[in-house]
Amino acid sequence: MPAKARIAVIGAGLMGHGIAQVFALAGHDVRIHDSVKESLDSATARIRANLKDLGDDESAVERVLPCADLACAVREADYVVEAVLEDLPLKQKVFAEIERHAPPGAILASNTSVIPITKITEPLRDRTRALGTHWWNPPFLVPLVEVIETQWTGANATTFTMKLHADVGKTPAHVKKDVPGFIGNRLQHALWREAISLVEHGICDAETVDTVIKASFGRRLAVLGPLENADLVGTDLTLAIHRTVLPDIESRPGPSPYLEGLVADGKLGFKSGEGFRKWSQEQQAALRAKLVDHLKASRDREKAK
Ligand SMILES: NC(=O)c1ccc[n+]([C@@H]2O[C@H](COP(=O)([O-])OP(=O)(O)OC[C@H]3O[C@@H](n4cnc5c(N)ncnc54)[C@H](O)[C@@H]3O)[C@@H](O)[C@H]2O)c1
Repeated sequence: MPAKARIAVIGAGLMGHGIAQVFALAGHDVRIHDSVKESLDSATARIRANLKDLGDDESAVERVLPCADLACAVREADYVVEAVLEDLPLKQKVFAEIERHAPPGAILASNTSVIPITKITEPLRDRTRALGTHWWNPPFLVPLVEVIETQWTGANATTFTMKLHADVGKTPAHVKKDVPGFIGNRLQHALWREAISLVEHGICDAETVDTVIKASFGRRLAVLGPLENADLVGTDLTLAIHRTVLPDIESRPGPSPYLEGLVADGKLGFKSGEGFRKWSQEQQAALRAKLVDHLKASRDREKAK
């Protein structure tokens, strides 16, 4: 792995510009491409504003070169990450173009949230160098990047990608099989399914669900994962709890009718002012600010260690 790798980021939206920022701050040369002029033209200004807000070195933005042409962005790349819209035919088209113009040894990654990496990379001539990297929003504040292998991914592509992300300060997690939701979203949505079910069955209201989590195991989760916790209390106790509780926990294979009802009624959450709960503009802004403050404080604590 070169100390200074040549990184290409395709798509300069919410995720793409943040991913470019992380690589540039770590000292890599980054080329960024977007097919929409306004998105490309504003990318470096958005990166500079983020760097300033975080107290990071603003000169890092000088290592980010916007390219109006995809070929120019990937032509000399060691590593290409795609972060265009979540649309399979679009991603396949973009990957075909990347494959046409990138050097034969470049590693190619997709930042899709839920589309199987296998489907995105299947049409490639060389699938051994392609994999998934699932970043979390905002990319410069949430440490995890899931590195997802397909059945075709070569070991060197995985090793390179794991090391690249560890070296820029991320926490890479190796996902050995390309399953829907990878690891993080499977776990997250198993919890959300039960959270919605509790409300649906009148056991508590939505605010109470969130309070219970935030005031109990949510406090511990950042330092104590569920399997560490199971070992801490004992696998025998965990087994006893599962024998009693699991038969009663929500297990339906599809979305909750309660959730479907909210969407059908136009209760879309922040964007309509009501979802599981009602949200004024002030409440929305306060919650967003609280989240960013929390993520920044966590990052600062990690950096200080
Ligand atoms: N937003 C999140 O929280 C999040 C988290 C993890 C992964 N993702 C995934 O990351 C990807 C990008 O999401 P986002 O939230 O940044 O979306 P976004 O809409 O903010 O950005 C997508 C960008 O892709 C550009 N684009 C569209 N077609 C293009 C093309 N042919 N060539 C180059 N650029 C093109 C758009 O102009 C836009 O700037 C998606 O696959 C999404 O599912 C998103």
